[in-house]
Amino acid sequence: MKFVVTGAAGFIGSHLAERLSAQGHDVAGIDSFTDYYDVALKEENARGLDVQRLDLAVEDLELDGVHGVFHLAGQPGVRSFGDVFDEYVNRNLVASRRVFERAARAGVRVVFASSSSIYGDAERYPTPEDTEPRPISPYGITKLGCEQLARAYAQGFGLEAIVLRYFTVYGPRQRPDMAVARIVDALARGAPFELYGDGSQSRSFTYVADAVDGAIAAMERAPAGAVYNVGGGAEATMREAIDALERISGRTLELLERPVAKGDVRRTAADTTAIARDVGWRATTPLDDGLQAQWEWAANRVAAS
Ligand SMILES: NC(=O)c1ccc[n+]([C@@H]2O[C@H](COP(=O)([O-])OP(=O)(O)OC[C@H]3O[C@@H](n4cnc5c(N)ncnc54)[C@H](O)[C@@H]3O)[C@@H](O)[C@H]2O)c1
Repeated sequence: MKFVVTGAAGFIGSHLAERLSAQGHDVAGIDSFTDYYDVALKEENARGLDVQRLDLAVEDLELDGVHGVFHLAGQPGVRSFGDVFDEYVNRNLVASRRVFERAARAGVRVVFASSSSIYGDAERYPTPEDTEPRPISPYGITKLGCEQLARAYAQGFGLEAIVLRYFTVYGPRQRPDMAVARIVDALARGAPFELYGDGSQSRSFTYVADAVDGAIAAMERAPAGAVYNVGGGAEATMREAIDALERISGRTLELLERPVAKGDVRRTAADTTAIARDVGWRATTPLDDGLQAQWEWAANRVAAS
């Protein structure tokens, strides 16, 4: 089958495109290679993949013969206050509107990568999908807007969309602005790590291979209109993740304590009952195994540089 993966030069998108190719599918990657982080990393992610440079905020997707679109392109990162908001609007709302409209016209199913950030500081933990969304970052607000756009295109134009709310995805090639990536890099280089908050904030860490499995399972089996959390089974605090990485690497991390960043929630905990029930997905990678894989990846890169 033929699939489009938007954001294919990014962290999750490149893993997804690789997996689909390995399964024998024809994969057309799309990415505008934004400079949110080092473009060289994206070029490295895209090596060996078919990735076309295209800005979805201004250009249309070609969907002839395509069975499904995995829409992962977007502007991530919760530190989204200030003038950068225009980029969040453009790369999330404007780009997704074009993707959804195009897919609706072509009758092509879309799996959209939304975020646990739409919940903000949630009313309930673990958080089921029907919890009231109360995002506390401009990023979360644009992601929630994208979800609503998908729903509007479903209602008005018959779009078949599935929304996946990803919870803190980690693993090799993780975005360099994310905490685990910064920790393994600091450990590998012997550099200090800036910890925002006191480290008691917790996350449903989700290994990237599990995130990829969830997207493919949703494309294959989810009912149209479904909204699912995709989160790792074990919740851990930042301190616990740091302890685990110190153990795995056999090194000690020098911490520089910084105030809590605005837009960062205290806790995320995914209730994944719905996706387990409907499509049979659950996270299977233990946190220690996933952190070990990311540590080895980062340590090898630093050693080779
Ligand atoms: N990594 C996580 O923990 C996480 C959690 C929740 C949701 N998500 C969502 O999953 C998706 C992938 O996240 P990621 O961590 O791999 O991010 P990433 O930044 O590595 O990948 C996103 C890619 O989209 C591309 N892109 C941005 N705007 C574009 C446009 N207008 N046209 C074409 N390409 C464009 C970027 O160049 C980038 O390569 C994002 O939508 C993100 O919001 C990620």
